Amino acid sequence: MRIGVLHSRIRIEEKLIIEELDRRGLDYEMIDDRALIFDLPGGRAWERYDVILERCISHSRALSALKILEVLGLRCVNPYAVAEVCGDKLNTTLALVAAGVPTPRVKVAFTPESALAAIEEIGYPVVLKPAVGSWGRLLARVQDRDAAEALLEHKATLGTYHHSIFYIQEYVPKPGRDIRSFVVDDDTICAIYRSSEHWLTNTARGARATNCPVTPEIQEISVAAAQACGGGILAVDLLEGPDGRILANEVNYTMEFRNSIAPTGVNIPARVVDYVLSVGAGRQALGAPASRSLPSHRCDGPQPDGIGPATTSGAAGAATDGIAAAASMESMEDVRPRNA
Ligand SMILES: Nc1ncnc2c1ncn2[C@@H]1O[C@H](COP(=O)(O)OP(=O)(O)O)[C@@H](O)[C@H]1O
Ligand SMILES: [Mg+2]
Repeated sequence: MRIGVLHSRIRIEEKLIIEELDRRGLDYEMIDDRALIFDLPGGRAWERYDVILERCISHSRALSALKILEVLGLRCVNPYAVAEVCGDKLNTTLALVAAGVPTPRVKVAFTPESALAAIEEIGYPVVLKPAVGSWGRLLARVQDRDAAEALLEHKATLGTYHHSIFYIQEYVPKPGRDIRSFVVDDDTICAIYRSSEHWLTNTARGARATNCPVTPEIQEISVAAAQACGGGILAVDLLEGPDGRILANEVNYTMEFRNSIAPTGVNIPARVVDYVLSVGAGRQALGAPASRSLPSHRCDGPQPDGIGPATTSGAAGAATDGIAAAASMESMEDVRPRNA
């Protein structure tokens, strides 16, 4: 079996995955999204992969690459449809609500005026979030009408396309922490508390990670949230409400886990590789709708020999078999790290 690892800058997570692949002597190639050219309707160059593990940093690159790869017939972890749901908080909310998974209340509005009305219906404080984003960036806890008006005006005047939809969430008065659980298939393999003095508890913002025992309730809501989004390898953010009830806040599809191995004692990269192998072997029914209708992962019939993946294989990163790579400038705008 040959695994393709689609990546951007190699983070600690990718290093750990590479170490695990090497330790097991698996056949894999690293595919750098910064040098990648898809030549359509090509496809032959991709036939050598049984499965692609998507580890792009940019959501837009991940979405486009997954879409193309699935059309070419490849099995991807996670599938396009999962990325589409998880990479957008509104899509995630819709999926959670549709599946009956407890989640904070959300209102969506399209103008500053209706957004202000929505905020006041929920009552202060509320949380405003860009639908696409991560690391707690551009989240705002809004405490009063003055702040709401100012923020809405700024978003309407200065915001990019991503701020044109107002995603307004009730503030959950959590106990100085949230919970990040890791789901692989139908198992919550571990969880951490992320504790901080700040209301944002992303580890990327300095929150401390400690082990969180996976209670039956955490197992149940984590798997329900993950499966609502199509399932696979997912990290779920959970919020503990004042009544002790746990709510699923968001689901991350290219999860970062560097801070979670030591506190939990769980070898997360090993579980990632196990799952990728089972998808590559066709033992997993990929859960997302787009993937259910996937054809066989091989491309049938004559195909033009398009320029394919720009690859290196093995941790040493040697270039392989003459498949072209093109140097490309990293577009800052496009690179949106996520999900820590
Ligand atoms: N509705 C909320 N109530 C309380 N805290 C929240 C709420 N939404 C987000 N947070 C805090 O902000 C952090 C980041 O929010 P999240 O929705 O996960 O966005 P990101 O994709 O940037 O991680 C969460 O981990 C949590 O600590
Ligand atoms: Mg988050």
